[in-house]
Amino acid sequence: MNYAIETIDLVKRYPTKARRGVRPGQGVQSRRRVDSFGGFFGTLTANHGAFVEALRGVNLQIREGEVFGLLGPNGAGKTTLIKILCTLVIHDEGQALVHGFDVKKQPTEVLKNLQAILPESRGFDWRLSGRQNLEFYALLYSVPDKEAKERIDFLLDFTGLKERADDGYQRYSTGMQRKLLLCRSLLRNTPTLLFDEPTAGLDPAAAAEFRSLLRDKLSRGEGKTILLSTHNLDEAQEICDRVAILNHGKILACDTPGNIQRLMFDKRTLTVTFVGAVSGEPQEKILQELKGIAGVNNVAPDIGRDNSLQGLSIQGDKDMDVSAILAVLVNKGLKIGEINTEEPTLEDVFMHLTRRRTDEPSGVQDEG
Ligand SMILES: Nc1ncnc2c1ncn2[C@@H]1O[C@H](COP(=O)(O)OP(=O)(O)O)[C@@H](O)[C@H]1O
Ligand SMILES: [Mg+2]
Repeated sequence: MNYAIETIDLVKRYPTKARRGVRPGQGVQSRRRVDSFGGFFGTLTANHGAFVEALRGVNLQIREGEVFGLLGPNGAGKTTLIKILCTLVIHDEGQALVHGFDVKKQPTEVLKNLQAILPESRGFDWRLSGRQNLEFYALLYSVPDKEAKERIDFLLDFTGLKERADDGYQRYSTGMQRKLLLCRSLLRNTPTLLFDEPTAGLDPAAAAEFRSLLRDKLSRGEGKTILLSTHNLDEAQEICDRVAILNHGKILACDTPGNIQRLMFDKRTLTVTFVGAVSGEPQEKILQELKGIAGVNNVAPDIGRDNSLQGLSIQGDKDMDVSAILAVLVNKGLKIGEINTEEPTLEDVFMHLTRRRTDEPSGVQDEG
């Protein structure tokens, strides 16, 4: 099968001159070494060529026509992956293919098939209108005159900018500026589009409009393949056919949002609300006793303004002993008003998978 995008064991390392252990969030091992040598060791290893491993063996297969979400916290490697695919960053190991073309060996072919929309790309003249800016870029991209005019008219209409097309760019809102950027990237009409955090900085209404533009018009309407990065889980759930959860340069899960959610269905949350609040010392005892029950992972109390216990949220395995939990509560004389069990959301899975684990190696390593 021909994929729109395929990566095979993709590795990217950035050299770093920063003193190891001083940069925030880079692993226990380096911190320990710096502590023992009072900072000296950090400087020494940096000179030997320390690096950040931004991608650590990424394998992805994105089908033609798919809306694919790259989900991950800050520093996960999302932008790096997008920049490798649009040939702005060169990877160290592995392979990346765009419609079968190798990004290192056939960059010209790759760029005929793909266009990236990066948040930092601007380059519009503030004194020209939106339309004039697009005409300028059409010229730059060598789109023939007549074709350019038609295409620009179509795109301004397509993105809803038509009414304001002849206003100066300086009068555009952030949402309109983002749409003009989209128009510019669509001038060349490539089958695949990459978006890095497409709705970051937009207000909720503009973000929703932009999402619908991506999903309904570009994907469903025009059949484009879309890869977008986001840390917005609702966004991913709303518009992506499939998502990959990326953390510390590694893919932790890749599936439809629904299936990823089901990954954690062996966990559940039991919420109990009491009738009449419980005050004082017994709270602690109840929590301790509940935590001791088989299958219970965590107990979070719902404390009211008067410091009384109004309810509990109990997280545990699918087969946690609910009757034992209820027995404890009843024995303590608590009156149960309501009981609910909740299925984990995509956000729960995301938080669970991307939680920083101290036993995991950090992204920073030494070459020498
Ligand atoms: N030009 C660069 N030089 C050095 N390190 C970089 C550079 N760009 C990104 N990094 C590092 O690579 C990791 C991944 O960054 P990035 O791809 O920007 O993540 P994301 O887009 O998911 O926030 C981070 O640790 C970041 O600090
Ligand atoms: Mg980024």
